[in-house]
Amino acid sequence: MKVEVKQVELVDVGTDLLAVGLVEGGELPPEIAGAAGADSARSGFKKLSLLRPDGFPTVLVVGLGESEELDLETLRIAAAVAAKEAERLEAKSIAWAYPRGIDSVLAADALVTGTVLAAYRFDRFKSGERDDSPRLESLVLPGPAEFAKTVEWARITAEAQNRARDLQLTPANFATPTFLAERAEAITAASEALTVEVFGRAELEAKGMGGLIAVGQGSAEEPKLIVLRYSGGGSGPTLAYVGKGVTFDTGGISLKPGAGMQEMKMDMSGGAAVLEATAAIAELGLPLELIALVPTTENMPSGTAIKPGDIITQYNGKTVEVNNTDAEGRLILADALAYAVELGAERIVDIATLTGAVEIALGSTYAGLVSNDDPLAAEVIEAGEVSGELVWRLPLHPEYKELMKGTVADLSNLGKKRKAGTITAASFLEEFVGETAWAHLDIAGSAWDIGREYVGNEANGFGARLLVEFARHSAS
Ligand code: BES
Ligand code: ZN
Ligand code: ZN
Repeated sequence: MKVEVKQVELVDVGTDLLAVGLVEGGELPPEIAGAAGADSARSGFKKLSLLRPDGFPTVLVVGLGESEELDLETLRIAAAVAAKEAERLEAKSIAWAYPRGIDSVLAADALVTGTVLAAYRFDRFKSGERDDSPRLESLVLPGPAEFAKTVEWARITAEAQNRARDLQLTPANFATPTFLAERAEAITAASEALTVEVFGRAELEAKGMGGLIAVGQGSAEEPKLIVLRYSGGGSGPTLAYVGKGVTFDTGGISLKPGAGMQEMKMDMSGGAAVLEATAAIAELGLPLELIALVPTTENMPSGTAIKPGDIITQYNGKTVEVNNTDAEGRLILADALAYAVELGAERIVDIATLTGAVEIALGSTYAGLVSNDDPLAAEVIEAGEVSGELVWRLPLHPEYKELMKGTVADLSNLGKKRKAGTITAASFLEEFVGETAWAHLDIAGSAWDIGREYVGNEANGFGARLLVEFARHSAS
């Protein structure tokens, strides 16, 4: 979508539609209120009303609720509601008049985000009846030239989130580990500051990445470890992002039930967020050093698949009893986390659709956060509050670690007695980060089906904007 800041009067904005946000008891911009045809402005507004003031584009008044409650999330939602209405009205372009009483640069950011995300479509696999319903093509924000940078950043970041949604929705017969590696290569080709390495089966075996090898051994698709490095300079700590890239999770020999299994094409949502956030970070040229790792594989049952009880050796030498082959995410993340530490990461954030338990605990409203470092956890929470991708911290405790001890190996990949599934999974991961500051995001409940107006109930690219925001914070 084309997004631009224009220094124009509202009357000259030149779009098909002009959205005006109005808080309870608020007033329309005086020039609109004063125009003939805008009389109805004097009575109360419902959530959406249309006005046709003389000389202006059609005005869409969007109710924003009480002014004391006006925040960035309200604006993202309002922008999405307006974008949908614009498409219904077959408008190709929309402008937004800023509501008063909120920082207008931040408001511009939220309006761009809500509009770009709401206008998202995925119709790559529709043939004859390709969705040709009207599309919103451009967004204009009347405002000072200083807004241009913020608006550009918001567009780049929201588009990264939309590309993460593309990867989530692309089915597993297309989005294989090789496909994700090719996406990483394409991202790298677009920036001087990026380099990429992709390790296949032979290299993974040579390196001793027993977790990724074990999960991938039942599949005809080759498992890969994608290692992207972004060198943007700056004086901050080296950051690592690690994203789970299971392109299809059948559960393996511990087979999942059939109903709903198709959703497991999205078990690479964490990897998608990491890849596309890295693309956005490079596009924005943020001044930091970042290592982005995506261990990627299918998890399939077959004659060569790992079996419950098999013992593997992870990259850091720890041995693991694989007591449930469906707890595969932690096995591939373990290798990637240990490798991130070896590469010199000083702060690690991993993101994964790791446990069904997180959806029981937090629903889709918050992603789960587990961390061994209070300042890092606080920054991740803060980034999520800014981006609207909310995260809630769950505790670590030695007793949870105890639940992950193996009987004949160091560790088990399955917690005892199904207690605290999200935390025990994180406690397992903690065994692979040593003393490095680490934060783990479990997005199994939030990567789709969250129902916010700007992303709906399908794949939502959760984490992409949070990771960019965190990197921005880390770089400054
Ligand atoms: N990919 C799943 C987790 C998941 C569940 C993601 C629902 C999205 C929606 C993960 O690999 C898994 O199967 N985890 C198991 C772990 C258990 C066997 C310890 C789970 O949560 O049931
Ligand atoms: Zn699984
Ligand atoms: Zn999984």
